[in-house]
Amino acid sequence: MTSDKIARRQVLRGIAGLAVAAPVLRSARIASELVRTPDVAGAPLPEQLHLQFGSDAAHQMAVSWAAPARVWRPGVRLGKPGYGLGLQVPAQEKVYTDALTGQMVFTYHAELPRLDADTAYYYEVVHEGAPQPVAGSFRTAPEGRSKGFRFTSFGDQTIPAKVGLGFGPYTPNAGYIVDAVERLDPLFHLLNGDLCYANVSDLPIDTWSSFFGNNQRSAKNRPWMPAMGNHETEVGNGPEGFLSYQTRFQLPDNGTPEFHGNWYAFTVGPIRVISIHNDDVCLQDGGFSAYRRDNISGYRAKGYDPYVRGYSRGAQKRWLKRTLHDAKHDDGIDWVIVCMHQVAMSTAHYNGADLGIRQEFLPLFDTYGVDLVVAGHEHHFERTFPVRGILRGSSHLTPAPQATDASVIDTRKGAVHMIIGGGGHDAPTPGSAFDAKRDGVLIYDVGPGDPHHQRASKKTTEPAPWSAYRDLQTPYGFASFDFDPGQPGADTSITVTHYGAALGSPAYTPLDTFTLRKPR
Ligand SMILES: [Fe+2]
Ligand SMILES: [Fe+2]
Repeated sequence: MTSDKIARRQVLRGIAGLAVAAPVLRSARIASELVRTPDVAGAPLPEQLHLQFGSDAAHQMAVSWAAPARVWRPGVRLGKPGYGLGLQVPAQEKVYTDALTGQMVFTYHAELPRLDADTAYYYEVVHEGAPQPVAGSFRTAPEGRSKGFRFTSFGDQTIPAKVGLGFGPYTPNAGYIVDAVERLDPLFHLLNGDLCYANVSDLPIDTWSSFFGNNQRSAKNRPWMPAMGNHETEVGNGPEGFLSYQTRFQLPDNGTPEFHGNWYAFTVGPIRVISIHNDDVCLQDGGFSAYRRDNISGYRAKGYDPYVRGYSRGAQKRWLKRTLHDAKHDDGIDWVIVCMHQVAMSTAHYNGADLGIRQEFLPLFDTYGVDLVVAGHEHHFERTFPVRGILRGSSHLTPAPQATDASVIDTRKGAVHMIIGGGGHDAPTPGSAFDAKRDGVLIYDVGPGDPHHQRASKKTTEPAPWSAYRDLQTPYGFASFDFDPGQPGADTSITVTHYGAALGSPAYTPLDTFTLRKPR
């Protein structure tokens, strides 16, 4: 929705700051009945600031934040450095009530339209009665192939310190990695799912607050663009448990209002980034939470079920096919990058790869020439040769490598998959999880289960000639990507570096580098 439309809605309703997105209408209505008129004099500070690109990263940005209580006249004052703050953009309120704790969460989102490309902006988040504004700054993406830029990525971050009873994972590295990313000054960051594991916490709202509070020092200055992981299913929050994620982020539209944000795409320079939600196709039962099962009142009576496989009834796959088709036939696009959570290949006896992804999504990646896939879920770093098609004789759709050079890769031959799951989880993939002969590990089915009992994954091993590099030593890390648009008639490239650190260490050092290359 444009800010003009938001402003119009506010005028029409006559309620400042209460323009509510479709997925949260019902909870917002309840909210307006239960919440007292805010005490403007004692209004809280805006918190948990973070940015998101719109579908056009050169011209659109959304500023999002939260407040511990409803606030009055929320908005963003925007300007360019040296020119003062001019434009004021009203924010849209989105709320939800957590099924476990009954707490109501207030979030605010201002969509900034018609920004200039490759331009620095300064902004302040304000609402009536706030003791002081909270400020941030950002740079819009360059137009088309005009300029190179850097971006970064990791998954499975968690939070830097214990919350509540400590059922959710946390490490100091979940904090250190934010500073390490910020030092590289990327244009944007890709978060490959399993953000903070609020679904296993006794205090999910505090867990989210810790997550966004920890990331704010970077995410208020550059978009941190997420993909949904299995731990973003918070059963009881909305029909499938997605309402917390959907409320907290303001992501590009995908044309399916009830699943807004679950999958989306944006164009940054000549790169089309596509974020997808693999729980829709995965066999594994990854969103299950025994804590929520045992502690949400009415879990059984209301028929809550965290096993969401197939929930979009093909809507996501149809959108993905259309989006990949359009990118392939767009003369302005040189690269297609997919950001997702669960993996199509892994050599770790940890979660394992998932056959469902191979069945549903990999044929589309092949058909439409995806260049790069970044994922998480496995809590280590590993990357593949370019893969396309299926290994001869494979009974499990094992992807076939199309080259054996691990340092310079022509992605016209196939997609390179990267597992970057060392964001900060306190259970990194142990060295003992890797077979000496480098077997692939695949979930090919699940055992019996129901909403009250998690289905166990059935796994097998397979040859893994696709595995190009893996790090068995370093538990924590992220990747940076230096994109070079190249010259007309020559190559465009992305130089990738994996930075790693030990538990408890803020020193992230380069450990692996390679280059993706193709004619532009
Ligand atoms: Fe994870
Ligand atoms: Fe995961």
